[in-house]
Amino acid sequence: MQNSEKFAQLSIEDAPLIKVTPPGPQSREILEYQEKNESSAISYARGMPMALKRGKGATLEDVDGNIYIDMFGGAGVMALGHGHPEVLAAAHEQIDEITHTLDIPSPTRKNLVSVLKSILPSQLSRLFFGGPTGSDAVEQALKLAKFNTGRYNIIAFEGGYHGMTGGALALTSDAGHKEGLGPLVPGVQFVPYPYTYRNPFGGPEEECDLRCAEYLDHVLEDSHSGFMKPAAVILEPVQGEGGSIVPPERFLQNVRKICDKHGVLLICDEIQSGLGRTGKMFAFEHSGIVPDIVTMSKALGGVGFPISAIAYREELNTWPAGKTIGTFRGNMVAFAAGAKALSYMVEHNVPEHAAKLGKILLEELKKVEKDSKILGEARGKGLMLGLEMVKDRETKEPAPEIAREVRKLAHQRGVMIEVGGHYGNVARLLPPLIITEKLAFKGAEIISDVIRDIEKKY
Ligand SMILES: Cc1ncc(COP(=O)(O)O)c(C=O)c1O
Repeated sequence: MQNSEKFAQLSIEDAPLIKVTPPGPQSREILEYQEKNESSAISYARGMPMALKRGKGATLEDVDGNIYIDMFGGAGVMALGHGHPEVLAAAHEQIDEITHTLDIPSPTRKNLVSVLKSILPSQLSRLFFGGPTGSDAVEQALKLAKFNTGRYNIIAFEGGYHGMTGGALALTSDAGHKEGLGPLVPGVQFVPYPYTYRNPFGGPEEECDLRCAEYLDHVLEDSHSGFMKPAAVILEPVQGEGGSIVPPERFLQNVRKICDKHGVLLICDEIQSGLGRTGKMFAFEHSGIVPDIVTMSKALGGVGFPISAIAYREELNTWPAGKTIGTFRGNMVAFAAGAKALSYMVEHNVPEHAAKLGKILLEELKKVEKDSKILGEARGKGLMLGLEMVKDRETKEPAPEIAREVRKLAHQRGVMIEVGGHYGNVARLLPPLIITEKLAFKGAEIISDVIRDIEKKY
C-alpha cells in the first residue's frame, strides 16, 4: 500500500462535518464548568471554544458530534496525528510492563536512544532526557552551555519563543509574557531575526538576513556593544510562535560561523521545528550546519505523551553525575511511543511528505495572498505555515483582530488553526504531518474562503 493510502486511513477523510455551530450545547456545558473551576489563564479553549471527545489522525470530534480538520496539531505535538494505531500499540504494550524508571536503563530507553541517534547528526552523540516539557529541555540546554563555558550570558532572537519556565521565559522575546513578573534569569540579550516582511534593518529584503548576521557579529566583536561574551546563542531555525518566520538557509550558516569565530556555543531549539515538521528531521539540516546543542520535545512523545531531550556534542559531556536531576525523566510509555513514532516517520518518509505537501499548500495560500488586501504574506516551510494578516497591504499595519476572526470563522466551519506572531496577527498552521493532500486542501480552501469573506467587510 502507498504511503498516501496509509495516511488516508488514519483520518476521517470526509471531514469537516459541522452539525451545530461550535460551541454546541454539550460543549458549552463543559466549557462553563471549566470557566468556573479552572484558571483564568486558560487560552486555547477561548480561541477554539468546544469540548473534545476523540481524535483520529488529522481530524478531531467534539462532544456535539462536529468533526474538524485539525490544522494546529496540538501546537505541533501531534506529528503523526491523533491515536496513531501503531504508536498506540507500542504505548499499550509498554504500560503493562513498566511505566517509570527514573534514568535507570531499560530496553525501551535503549531503543529510543538508538532511534534518536540514527536520525541525529553523528556529532550530536550525547543525549539527556530532562523534565517532560519543551521548556525543561531549554533549561537543560542553558545549564549545559553555562556549565561548559563558565559564562552566564545568552543571546536570543527577537520573535523567539522558548517556553514559560524561568530561564526559557527569559529567552522568550515577547514582553507581554513577562510583564508583571519582575526580574527573570539575568544576562539575556536579544538581537534581530531575519523577519523579512518587517525588515528590522530596512534596505533590500533579500539582504535582511545578512544585516542580522552582521549585527550579531558586531555585538560579539565590539566590547562597547554592551554585550558580555555569552555562553551561547539560541535560536529557532524556523521561528514558530514568532509567526512562522523562515530565514534563508545561509542565515544559519552565517550564525554558525560567527559562533565559531567568537567561541560561543550554538543552541538550536527544535522543539517546534524538529522531527519532520519543516520537511527534514531537523530544520537546521536545511542549512547543512550542526549546532552544539539541540532541544527536542513536542512530537517526541509519539501521540502527545510528555517527554523532552537535548542532544549535544561529545566535548560538552563534562557534567558530573547528578549535576542535573529530576523525577520525571523516565516515562517509559512516552519513550516507547516516541521510538515507534520516529521509526514510523523514517519508514514512511513522513518528512518528505511534509516537504511536498507544505510546498503545494503554500502555493495555494500564496494565490490568496496575491489578490488579498488583508493577507500581507503567506509563508512557511514544510507544514509550519503562517498567514500574516494586515489592515492594509501598503502600510502593513498588523491586524490581530482579523487573525482572530480567521481563527474563529475557520473553527466554525470546521478547521482548527491558531494565532501567533509579533503582533498576534499571524494565523498559524501546524497540521499533523500525516495529513492527506485532500484534507489539507480542504482546510486551505475553508481558510481562504474565510479570508475572502472577512475581506468583503473591509
Ligand atoms: C521553539 C519552542 N521552544 C520551547 C517551547 C516550550 O515548550 P513547552 O510548551 O512544552 O514547555 C515551545 C512551545 O511552543 C516552542 O515552540
